[in-house]
Amino acid sequence: MTYPDVIAPHGGQLINRIANPAQQAEFLSKADHLPRVQLDDRAASDLVLIAIGGFSPLAGFMEQADYDRVVNEMHLENGLPWAIPVTLPVSEDVAAPLKEGNLVRLDDAQGRFMGVLELTQKYTYDKLHEALHVYRTNEEKHPGVAVVYQQGSVYLAGPIWLLQRDTHPYFPTYQIDPIESRTLFREKGWKTIVAFQTRNPIHRAHEYIQKCALETVDGLFLHPLVGVTKDDDISADIRMRCYEIMLEHYFPKDRVILAINPAAMRYAGPREAVFHAILRKNYGCTHFIVGRDHAGVGDYYGTYDAQYIFDEFAPGALGITPMKFEHAFYCKRTQGMATTKTSPSLPEERVHLSGTKVREMLRRGELPPPEFSRPEVARELARAMKVPTEVWGDGI
Ligand code: ADX
Repeated sequence: MTYPDVIAPHGGQLINRIANPAQQAEFLSKADHLPRVQLDDRAASDLVLIAIGGFSPLAGFMEQADYDRVVNEMHLENGLPWAIPVTLPVSEDVAAPLKEGNLVRLDDAQGRFMGVLELTQKYTYDKLHEALHVYRTNEEKHPGVAVVYQQGSVYLAGPIWLLQRDTHPYFPTYQIDPIESRTLFREKGWKTIVAFQTRNPIHRAHEYIQKCALETVDGLFLHPLVGVTKDDDISADIRMRCYEIMLEHYFPKDRVILAINPAAMRYAGPREAVFHAILRKNYGCTHFIVGRDHAGVGDYYGTYDAQYIFDEFAPGALGITPMKFEHAFYCKRTQGMATTKTSPSLPEERVHLSGTKVREMLRRGELPPPEFSRPEVARELARAMKVPTEVWGDGI
């Protein structure tokens, strides 16, 4: 298949590992006799992303040669850039009876038959090494490192097939696979599309960098992550409602597509920024926004480390262009959104709030100011976080 007018997927071909009806029937007939592995929500979302081509050129969970090269050198065995291992961890007890060369049934967290793994390899790995290279820290309080330390010590590898997945309960219309986003871009005649990754409620700095980017390209692909996040992140359904509100009031409808990204958050900062960019390339985007502390957590990464990492790849090797933005804030002096590149303001003239601060304010019954958050979004957050109605009024 060729893509004359949409950017080529990573590795040149969009992977499709969704079982066709004949394969489904075959797998279902074997279902009761296959050894089972139960996937957690993160592995289940990885399975979906592999199947729909979001992780092209991966057709399955990584074998050791890919894993080692990704962890050590940020490339796959075949030389393509890749920044985060996509692996299926299980305990030694689960791995022991599984035989390489056989099929393994993959069940979701509810025990439903979700897919199949053609097991080609099982291998042990060094958790500390993975933590230090991928997350740049060995501290267990880093949420991504904690997952590595807590997961099983054997990785199962091999190509997969996806049998079934649920339509998203809240956002069926925003469940857009790479093949569909590519068609949408083609239909709209967009040649250049910038993608925006996010796991937080939209605020004005987000809106500012989205719109600055959109000024220079044809379309904006808003792609909030709705897979597993850490417990104190705001839930995906609240964030999606905020996006719907923003699209209703503040964005031109014909220039923006909102779609959900089923991936789980790793909080791997710089490495995850590269991973996020490649994912969006597979959705057909040509550009990718990387702002301050992209995919970061706590103070594990420098403010712009997630931008610098793109310089470690040869020009053009990634096949998607990062659009790098400085820390944006509302500037009281120039009375608009800005960064230190565009405003001469003193620090005390800048309005910026951290996500933690906003959550604290909402819990205290205060709304974030309009310089930080559009009032409609602030009210939605307040409503979702059950701030008393006298704070936000009953007019919405
Ligand atoms: S992330 O984990 O998905 O990166 P978040 O949703 O907060 O978290 O950020 C989405 C994108 O917006 C990232 O590229 C991030 O760097 C960028 N960003 C967030 N806040 C700002 C800001 N104030 N200034 C510039 N970029 C920002």
